[in-house]
Amino acid sequence: MSASEAKAKPRPRSGRVLVADDEQSMREFLAICLRREGHEVSVVSSGEEALSVLSGRAEHAPDVLVTDLKMGDIGGLELLSAVKARELGTEVIVVTAYATPETAIAAMKQGAYDYLTKPFKVDEISAVIARALEKRALVAENTALREQISGRHRLASLLGKSPAMQRVFQLIEKVSKTRTNVLITGESGTGKELVARALHTESGRAAAPFVALNCGAVPDELMESELFGHVKGAFTGAGADKQGLFQEAEGGTFFLDEIGELSMSLQVKLLRAIQERRIKPVGGTREAAIDVRLVAATNRELEEEVERGAFREDLYYRLNVIEIRLPPLRQRREDLPLLVDHFLKRFSAEQGRSFSGISREAMKRLEGHDFPGNVRELENIIEHACTLASDDEITAGDLPALRQSAKLAAADEPAAEAAFPDEGIALERVLYDYERQIIEQALDKAGGVRKRAAQLLGISFRSLRYRLAKLGLDEG
Ligand SMILES: Nc1ncnc2c1ncn2[C@@H]1O[C@H](COP(=O)(O)OP(=O)(O)OP(=O)(O)O)[C@@H](O)[C@H]1O
Ligand SMILES: [Mg+2]
Repeated sequence: MSASEAKAKPRPRSGRVLVADDEQSMREFLAICLRREGHEVSVVSSGEEALSVLSGRAEHAPDVLVTDLKMGDIGGLELLSAVKARELGTEVIVVTAYATPETAIAAMKQGAYDYLTKPFKVDEISAVIARALEKRALVAENTALREQISGRHRLASLLGKSPAMQRVFQLIEKVSKTRTNVLITGESGTGKELVARALHTESGRAAAPFVALNCGAVPDELMESELFGHVKGAFTGAGADKQGLFQEAEGGTFFLDEIGELSMSLQVKLLRAIQERRIKPVGGTREAAIDVRLVAATNRELEEEVERGAFREDLYYRLNVIEIRLPPLRQRREDLPLLVDHFLKRFSAEQGRSFSGISREAMKRLEGHDFPGNVRELENIIEHACTLASDDEITAGDLPALRQSAKLAAADEPAAEAAFPDEGIALERVLYDYERQIIEQALDKAGGVRKRAAQLLGISFRSLRYRLAKLGLDEG
């Protein structure tokens, strides 16, 4: 190292800065000064444009957002909320000509890094940006260290520190680099769609489209054209050629949600497309090659559907080259605090509040709950609580009634005749409990011999094993 280098003043950190201001002179002024300091500056003239930048890929998010407080419909506070909701880590500096202390305080309360009052000097804004970048670097370093120590708690927008989720993360990382078809299974609300998206964003295909289709939502007669497109005149109403979703997903990922809902005839057509990597639009004669990564999801027991002939076995094996099985939330309770915290942050931002946490008693109640609706249910519970909470800490009283165990028909009261409660039931939960109870009784009757219990239940041994695993009854 030369002497001059040793003495050189450390260059201030440079970063990506997004400037949002509806005043042109301000945009120009900031762009010029900040670029001169080595920052990579983008400018937008409205809140809407800023939002569209912020809703791009998280890796491309700016390090610092300098935003005017008042602009059209979407102002600085809304942008701040968006940054917090997406957990982008972007530091937000609010610029205001209306220096009422309340708005500045509101901004700081919602987590703005700092605020400046117009007019300000170049030195002031550069100093604030430099400090914000320092902070961001420290936070990043800190997070990296923590992750090194305790394992990774996040992958894309998926959170989880439980060993089960850590395994899911590892699997996603491994298979995202391949073109292998993936089947994601798990109860409703366990995060199947998030996993599908993570597989896409972590893959080399991230720049290409992610296309999702809910197979249960499209009427059968439209499905083929939805998947493969059609040519003009293929059927009444086909006024022009139309691309199918396979083509829209070209180069990217095609997510087939609720794959168990696909009819038999479409299963055949999908299988053909997968095997040949070619598709033919409805009414067309020419085939086109496709390069698409398929990810399918289901909350049904596809294996059982195969056994009873409702799902093609050959298609099942094609889709299920790798299975990612998401455990229900009740089997990974150690993820609760992390998720609660995450949702608190999100609803803080959305509701313009700053929830600090949740009381011990409230946490206890959550820990005792089974979450038949999994993470989605937790999300709804927290949203409900945030809406009701009068304080920054969520208390047990803010939580909605947690339907602990289903209103199961007692032995002397057959299920069909049980009155349907006014507030509704959680069907998944009822069925889950009922299944569990019956299987336990069968195991009892069979003296613990599973083969025998399966016979008593009229199901295959394989199916029983599957259910035991699902119900968490297979330990020991
Ligand atoms: N591990 C997780 N970390 C953070 N958020 C999660 C996680 N898992 C699920 N969520 C959230 O819970 C909600 C439900 O997730 P998602 O829609 O992916 O579930 P799903 O398995 O596809 O459910 P369904 O079978 O009902 O379609 C979403 O709002 C999602 O953001
Ligand atoms: Mg889903």
